[in-house]
Amino acid sequence: MKAIVILISGRGSNMEALLAAVVRGELPVRIAAVISNRPDAKGLETAAAQGLPTAVVDHKGYAGREAFDAALAACIDGYAPDLVVLAGFMRILTEDFVRHYEGRLLNIHPSLLPSFPGLHTHQRALEEGVRIHGCTVHFVTPALDHGPVVVQAAVPVLDSDDEAALAARVLQQEHIVYPLAVRWFAEGRLRLEGGRVRLDAERPQPPALISP
Ligand code: GRF
Repeated sequence: MKAIVILISGRGSNMEALLAAVVRGELPVRIAAVISNRPDAKGLETAAAQGLPTAVVDHKGYAGREAFDAALAACIDGYAPDLVVLAGFMRILTEDFVRHYEGRLLNIHPSLLPSFPGLHTHQRALEEGVRIHGCTVHFVTPALDHGPVVVQAAVPVLDSDDEAALAARVLQQEHIVYPLAVRWFAEGRLRLEGGRVRLDAERPQPPALISP
């Protein structure tokens, strides 16, 4: 069974969704560790309460990104994971770090990339007046919130939405597609080849989403 390490910085709801999928027997991976760059991340408590190994590599203890990323990589590699899963990990990673995990580093971003990379994606989507918003799981490349797309989920933007309502609708989808993408990887159906996603899996074929 493949081992994964999950990196978090805060709430950790995507980490919980992955763990729940493992517990339900829907995700054939061993969660080797949950690592946070913030000692006060709520997700760390959740992980520890569920009996998962946890670790903290506090970015404040390092002079720069290179030193932090080297310490983080050493911590991760101590668990020898097949896949590293960024789940609300709020640090920009150095090129060396990203290259070290090429093809085995996934991220989830709360927008339909390449729209709205960076922060405050839901507020920006509302300000732009887009009618469809969503989330993206992608392999990580050195460019921030960029990289070969594995799976996306789209939701309608409603006239009544505020940032919180839209974020909640997107987050529900995040909790579905992230375990799906990790399962594909764990089953050897998903890989990065020459910078492109190769996916050998049955794909849901929903009708087009038209909004409004
Ligand atoms: C999610 O919206 C994720 O897409 C983004 O940060 C948020 C993390 O939420 N990268 P959580 O910590 O998984 O609850």
